[in-house]
Parts: sequence; C-alpha cells; structure tokens
Amino acid sequence: MSGIAFTDAAKARFSELVDMTEAHLEKLRIKVLEGTAEQSGIVDAMWYSVSAGGKRIRPVLTLEFCRSCGGTEQQALSAACALEMIHTFSLIHDDLPCMDNDDYRRGKPSCHKAFGEAEALLAGDALLNLAYETIAGDESIPDGIRTALVCELSRCTGISGMIGGQVIDTTYSGGFDEKLLLDMYSMKTGALLKAACRMGCIAADADNEHICAAERYAENVGLAFQIIDDILDMTGDEKLIGKPVGSDAQNGKSTYASLKGIEASREKAAQLTGKALCELDIFENNGFLKEFTAFLLERNY
Ligand code: IPE
Ligand code: IPE
Ligand code: MG
Ligand code: MG
Ligand code: MG
Repeated sequence: MSGIAFTDAAKARFSELVDMTEAHLEKLRIKVLEGTAEQSGIVDAMWYSVSAGGKRIRPVLTLEFCRSCGGTEQQALSAACALEMIHTFSLIHDDLPCMDNDDYRRGKPSCHKAFGEAEALLAGDALLNLAYETIAGDESIPDGIRTALVCELSRCTGISGMIGGQVIDTTYSGGFDEKLLLDMYSMKTGALLKAACRMGCIAADADNEHICAAERYAENVGLAFQIIDDILDMTGDEKLIGKPVGSDAQNGKSTYASLKGIEASREKAAQLTGKALCELDIFENNGFLKEFTAFLLERNY
C-alpha cells in the first residue's frame, strides 16, 4: 500500500486523544451517577463495557478531523464521547445470545455474562440515549452545530446506518454476493465511522467540501475496517483482539474473508485504504490522520 509507518509521534498523539476521550467519559459517568439511585446498577453495567478497553478509534477520528478542519479537540469532545457510547451499545447488543452470542469482549466477559441479559439490553439502551443527551445538553456548542451533530449521529446509527446493517447481518437468510456483503459492511460498520469523521468536521464548522471528503474517506476506511475485523476473526490472537476467534464461522456468517479468501481480502483492504488516504489531501496537518489510517490497516487487534 502506502509504506506509511505508525511513528512514535503518531502513537503519542493517539494516546493523547484516547486519554482526552477517557477523561471526559469518566466525567460523564460521575454526572450520570448523580441522577440515579435504584438504577445505578445499570450505570455500572454501562461503564463496565465503556471502560473495558476499546481502541477508541471513532472518538480519535472525530477529535482529529475537527482539528484538521481548524477546530479544537474541545469543540468535538461531546460528539466523540457520544459516538463511543453508541459504538459500545452496538457491541453490548451484538454479543447477546440472540445476536452473535459471544461471551468475551474487550478482554473481559461480555456485558450480559457479567450482569445478565436484561441488564445488558438496558445498559445498551441507556448508552444510546445518553449519547444524544450528551450532545444536546452541551451548551458550549452553538445551536446550529448541535442540531447538525444530533442529526448526523441519529442518521448514521439508525435503520439506514449501523442498526440497518445489523438487521441484514442478523436476519438475511439468502446467499451473500460481494455487493450485498459490502453494502451491509458500509452500514453496520462504515456508518459509525462516517459519523465519526463527519461530526469532527461539523464540530469545526467546516465547509461542505471537507465534510464530503471526510465521508468518502470513512466509506473506504469502514469497508477496510470490517474486512480486517473478519480476517482477525479467522486468524487473530484472542488475547490481543479481546474477543473470541472463530465467532463468524461458528455463527455460519458469510464474510469477505470467507467469500474471497484471506489474501484477496488483505489486498482489498489495502486498496480501500489507498483510496481513503487520497481523500485526506485537502485537510490541513493531515500527518497523524495518514499514519493512523495505515495503522488501521495493519492492526492486529
Ligand atoms: C469492533 O469495533 C466492531 C466492528 C465494527 C468491527 P472495534 O474493533 O473498534 O472495537 P473496540 O472499540 O476496539 O472494542
Ligand atoms: C459488528 O460486526 C458490527 C457492529 C455494529 C457491532 P461484528 O459482529 O463482526 O463485530 P465483532 O467482531 O463482534 O466486534
Ligand atoms: Mg455481529
Ligand atoms: Mg460480533
Ligand atoms: Mg467481527
């Protein structure tokens, strides 16, 4: 592909953005706990999963796209944390016995294994709603931008986005060809990555040209991300990926890797990553984004 390396400077920036996200998530947890009594057990279930050690790829993209459009990380922090909550909700529900039935997530027992199925369902629901409350209640964001962020997040999460993709993944019983599979990936995984990148631009009040370039970037990264996820499901190290290897085969899932083989899948992911990188050219100070994109392709967790 690009030969771009994930340098120590980029690793340091990655940790800085992860730390910023995690510190803000912790503040949000404390604020939520203040308003709960009998139901505080669900806050424990919510944060058990939120703080279990995800890579924080989506918030990192939101914060960095905001900066690359001339904004500050602070302007995008609520959006970044809201997105991580929705992503975590999607994982809690994805692991339930009625979906992928996986007992292990982010290196720990899945939420329903630790707290029970009803609690996991409710923790996911609560995270989804807290995400919108987090953006809508942030009065430091100008009204027009706040509304645009909520619209973006709800559109990418809903029936035409992540949830729509999960519906196809879970209920479609016909055979998958390449097109249908990639359309499903673009929804179940691409849509939240699209929200991540577009919300970063929107938070910085960027123009349409930048928002559209961020969307095309995310479309390509989203497909590559799910293809790599599928490869890791077949060949990854369970200790590193923090979730069960072989889950897709056990559930009889068609994946890009099962359809095309691992080598062709790696090539496809590299090709998509190359296209994504081209979309970064119009962004200022895009060095970290380029290196981070290369990391996403080469990751082993
Ligand atoms: C896993 O996403 C689910 C997919 C959309 C493939 P991540 O690989 O970003 O999971 P975490 O957040 O690091 O746990
Ligand atoms: C899930 O895809 C995407 C979501 C929207 C949660 P997978 O089912 O492959 O994700 P993992 O492998 O369980 O993280
Ligand atoms: Mg799934
Ligand atoms: Mg799964
Ligand atoms: Mg997977």
